[in-house]
Amino acid sequence: MVRAMVLILAFYMLFLSARADLSQHLGLNWGRHTTQKLLPSMVIDLLLENGIKKVKLFSLNDAVLTAFAYTDIELMVSIPSVLLYEVNTTDDARDWVKTNIGPYLTNVKITTVVIGNEPFSAVDDEQGYLKVISVMKNIQTALNEAGYGHIKANIPHFSDTLQPYPLVKPSDADFRDDIKDYMLQVLRHLRVHDAPFLANISPIFLIDQFNLTDIEFLFLDNYSNHTIQDNIITYRNAFDAAHDAYVSALNKNGFSDMKIVVGQIGWPTDGSKEANLVNSERFFKGFLRRMASEKGTPLRPEPLEAYLYNLQDENKIKIARSGYQRHWGIYKFDGTPKFKIDFTGQGRDIYPNPTKGVVVMPLRWCVFNNDVRDMIKVQRNFNLACNLSDCSSLASGGSCSDLDFNHQVSYAFNMYYQIKTQKANDFVCQFEGLGKVVTENPRKGKCEFPVEILMSLEDRGVTTKASGLTVNSALLMILFALYEMIVIW
Ligand SMILES: *[C@@H]1O[C@H](CO)[C@@H](O)[C@H](O)[C@H]1NC(C)=O
Ligand SMILES: *[C@@H]1O[C@H](CO)[C@@H](O)[C@H](O)[C@H]1NC(C)=O
Ligand SMILES: *[C@@H]1O[C@H](CO)[C@@H](O)[C@H](O)[C@H]1NC(C)=O
Ligand SMILES: *[C@@H]1O[C@H](CO)[C@@H](O)[C@H](O)[C@H]1NC(C)=O
Ligand SMILES: *[C@@H]1O[C@H](CO)[C@@H](O)[C@H](O)[C@H]1NC(C)=O
Repeated sequence: MVRAMVLILAFYMLFLSARADLSQHLGLNWGRHTTQKLLPSMVIDLLLENGIKKVKLFSLNDAVLTAFAYTDIELMVSIPSVLLYEVNTTDDARDWVKTNIGPYLTNVKITTVVIGNEPFSAVDDEQGYLKVISVMKNIQTALNEAGYGHIKANIPHFSDTLQPYPLVKPSDADFRDDIKDYMLQVLRHLRVHDAPFLANISPIFLIDQFNLTDIEFLFLDNYSNHTIQDNIITYRNAFDAAHDAYVSALNKNGFSDMKIVVGQIGWPTDGSKEANLVNSERFFKGFLRRMASEKGTPLRPEPLEAYLYNLQDENKIKIARSGYQRHWGIYKFDGTPKFKIDFTGQGRDIYPNPTKGVVVMPLRWCVFNNDVRDMIKVQRNFNLACNLSDCSSLASGGSCSDLDFNHQVSYAFNMYYQIKTQKANDFVCQFEGLGKVVTENPRKGKCEFPVEILMSLEDRGVTTKASGLTVNSALLMILFALYEMIVIW
C-alpha cells in the first residue's frame, strides 16, 4: 500500500517536473500582422492557461506590453525591419531604450530586443546588413548604459543564411559567402554579450534545402525511411539535420560553444499542398515530444529551447515564398484552436485552451451575384478584392483551391468585405454591382468563408466610425469594457 503510494507520488513528481521543464524551454511567437486584432488581455489569459512562459513579439506596442505586466512571462520584443531607421544613431538608440524599454521594466520581463526579421535571409535587402549590425550594437550599448545589460539585442536568422544549397549533409554547411563577414561580426558581438544564436527553422522549407522527395522526413515521429548519413551520424529527420547544419556552420567559424535558440519553428495549415491541419498536428506532436524528452540533436545533445511559430494566422504578412506564410497560426484569427496540440509535450490528443471573450461580427457574408455578362468586369473586381485582402487559401493546394470560378470570386469578395469590417456605408460589397450580402454561410467543403472579429482596444476609435454598425458596436464596446474590468480585477 505504502509502496504503491510512493510509486504514485514518484510518477506524479516525474510528471510535474517534466511539465515544469518543458515550459522553461518552450516559447511561442505572437505575430499581430492582422487586419483585426485579438485583445492583448485575452491572449495573455490564453498564454497563462496554456502554461506558456516565453513569448516572442514581432513589434513593440504599449497595449501589448502593458498586458504582460505582473505575469511571469518572459518577452522577446522586436524592432521590425521597417522601423530600423528610427534607431539609426547611438542617440536614437538611447532614446529608443529610454522610451520603449525602460518604462516597462518594473513589471514586464523583457529578455531580448530582436532586430529586424531574418535580415540576412536571401530574400531580404542586401544593403541592410551593416545597418542592422549597427542598430544591434547601438541598442546593446544603450541597454548596458541604462543598466539593463541583462537584456540582449539579437538578430534572428533563417536556414537560407547557409550554403551550399541544396545541402547534402549537415557537416557541409557554412554561412553564405556573401554574408560571411557580416555574420562573423554578429557572432563576435553575441559572444561578448553572452547572447545565443537565434536560428529559425521552417520544416516545409527543408524540402528544398535538403532536396527531399519525401515529406515524411520532416516529422519527428520516426516513420520515414529516408536518412542522411553524415560520417558516423545517421539523421532520421530533417529538424535534426537543419539544426546541426547551423551547429556545423558555427563550429567552422570558431563558435562551437555558442548556445542555439530556435527562434521560430512550426507548420502552416493552408496556402500550399503540404500545409494542412493533419500535417501541422503531426509535426507539433513529434516536435513537442522531442522537446519534453530533453534530448537534443546529435551534435547538441542538451535540451532544446524553441519558440513555436505562430500563435495566430496573420493575413497581412507579405507573401514572398508561398501563400502558406499567412497560415502559421496554431489558432485561427478569431482565437479558436485549429488542431490538437499538447503544450506539455506529453503528446495527449487535446485541443489547447481557446481564447475567451472574442466577439465575432454579425454573421453575414458578401458573395458574387453570379452575373457573368461582363467577364472583364468580374475579373477586375476579383483581382481588386484579392489584392486588397487575402486570397492565399485559393492558392494551389490551399483549402479553397478546388472552388469553381464563381465561388472563387465570392471567396475574394467576402475576404475584402470582412477585412473592411462589413462597413455598409462604404459599399464594401459593391464591386460595380456584382456583390450581394447574404446571411447563409456560403462555405463549401473544406473552404471556410470567415467572418471577422470585432476590432481590438486600440482600434476602437475606428470601430465607432463604422456607422453601419453603430448600435452593435456601442453594445459590444460596453461588453469589452466589462471584460477588461473583469480581467483587471
Ligand atoms: C541615418 O540617418 C541619416 C539621416 O537621417 C542618414 O543620412 C544615414 O545614412 C542613416 N544611416 C544609416 C546607417 O542608415
Ligand atoms: C535533387 O535530387 C534529385 C533526385 O531526387 C536529383 O536528380 C537532383 O539533381 C537533385 N538536385 C540538386 C540541385 O542537387
Ligand atoms: C527510428 O527507426 C529506426 C529504424 O527505422 C530505428 O533504428 C531507430 O532506433 C528509431 N529511432 C527512435 C528514436 O525510435
Ligand atoms: C518504411 O519501410 C517499411 C518497410 O519497407 C514500410 O513498411 C513503410 O511503409 C515505409 N515507411 C514509409 C513512410 O514509407
Ligand atoms: C491585382 O492582381 C492581379 C493579378 O495578380 C495583377 O495583375 C494586378 O496588377 C493587381 N492589381 C493591383 C491594382 O494591384
